[in-house]
Amino acid sequence: MGNIPVDVCDAAIREFMEIAPQEAAMGTQGEHEDKSQRDTVLRFAPSGHWFGGILAQHGKIANEATGWGYELTSHENVQYGSYGPNGHYGWHTDTFPLAGLPMERKVSVVCLMSDPSEYEGGDLQIRLYQDYTADLKKGDMIAFPSILEHRVIPVISGTRNSAVVWLNGPRMK
Ligand SMILES: [Fe+2]
Repeated sequence: MGNIPVDVCDAAIREFMEIAPQEAAMGTQGEHEDKSQRDTVLRFAPSGHWFGGILAQHGKIANEATGWGYELTSHENVQYGSYGPNGHYGWHTDTFPLAGLPMERKVSVVCLMSDPSEYEGGDLQIRLYQDYTADLKKGDMIAFPSILEHRVIPVISGTRNSAVVWLNGPRMK
């Protein structure tokens, strides 16, 4: 679904690279750190960053066009992730179904921020009955329900960068 021009991606990347990196952790408060499950360097864009607005807009369009029809009331800040050699993120969902939070993630939007020629491996896969491998070029976006399992397979060489936004809404009833 949709793509963002490469020069627009590059403008955002220049801004993201000014942000101090963090090693990825998992959980509602980032309380779990397990490199066997995830090895990613993350940068969190400030609230309201313009690039997140673009991704969120595409996520809303996907939510309507596909008929998912989730109630969406906000979106989180852009998470810019860099997967270097052996960087990966094992099968997971973006939701926290056991946490009982009043708001939850409904739609995940991923934008590939590297040219596929810059890395080997690092495919994004989504699993629903069978595995689907996203075929993305730099600037291409994919949106999917946050409850679906997905992963990033290990990078063999180079660096794969991606930007992610989650669209949130009230807990499903
Ligand atoms: Fe994810």
